[in-house]
Amino acid sequence: MEYAKPLLLLFLSSSLLLLSPTRAADPDPLQDFCVADTADNPAVSVNGFPCKPASAVTVDDFVFDGLAKEGNTSASIFGASITPANVLSFPALNTLGVSMNRVDIAPGGVNPPHIHPRATELLLLLRGRLLVGFVSTENKLFAKVLKPGENFVAPKGLVHFQYNVGEEKAFAITAFDSQFPGVVVAAPSLFAATPAIPDEVLTKALQVDQKVVDMIKSNFGKNNNY
Ligand SMILES: *[C@@H]1O[C@H](CO)[C@@H](O)[C@H](O)[C@H]1NC(C)=O
Repeated sequence: MEYAKPLLLLFLSSSLLLLSPTRAADPDPLQDFCVADTADNPAVSVNGFPCKPASAVTVDDFVFDGLAKEGNTSASIFGASITPANVLSFPALNTLGVSMNRVDIAPGGVNPPHIHPRATELLLLLRGRLLVGFVSTENKLFAKVLKPGENFVAPKGLVHFQYNVGEEKAFAITAFDSQFPGVVVAAPSLFAATPAIPDEVLTKALQVDQKVVDMIKSNFGKNNNY
C-alpha cells in the first residue's frame, strides 16, 4: 500500500508531539522580577503589566497580607468569599506565573461551578469540610468530601466547585500556575452577561421555556456579588 508509509510517519510524528512536555504555566520571566506598575496607561499594551523601575522596588513589594483576613461570607448570595492574591492585588507576581486565593465558605455555602481559563487550581483545605469536584470534558464528575490537610486539584479549564458540607466555616487556600487565572462563573456568565445572551439562545440551549430563563435571570439580577 503506497500511502501506508506517509500515514505511519504522520502518526508517529503526531504521537511524538503529543508526548513532548507541554508548558502549563504563564511564560517564564526574563529578569529577576518585574513588579507590576498597575497604573492605567492606555498608550502601552503588553502581555501582563510593565515593570516598576527596579530602583523603586523594596522588600515590601514582595510581601502581601491580604489573605490574612477572613473573608465576609455574608456579602455574597453564595455564602462564599474569595480573596485573591493575584497580579492585580499583589503586583510582585507579575511575570512569575503563580497566584493564590483565600476561600472562606459558610456552612451550606458554595463557591459555585466555575472555570479558570488560564490555570490549574491546587486547593489545600485548612479548616472545615468541603465537598469539592470537577467535571471532565466527557462530563464525568470527580468529587469528594475533603478533610483539613487534604489537597484537591482541578485541572485547567474544567468546571469545578466547592460546597461546605460541615457545621463550621470552611477555610481553604487555592494556588494557581498563573499570575491571573481569570474566572468564568457558569451561572452568571450565562444569565447575567452584559449585554445579555438573547433569550432564544438560552431557551433553546437549555431546552426550557422563557419563564425558567426569566426566573433564573431575576435571581442573578438581585445581587451582583458573586
Ligand atoms: C459582611 O457583609 C454583610 C452584607 O453585606 C454586612 O452587612 C456586614 O456588615 C459585613 N460584615 C463585616 C464584618 O464587614
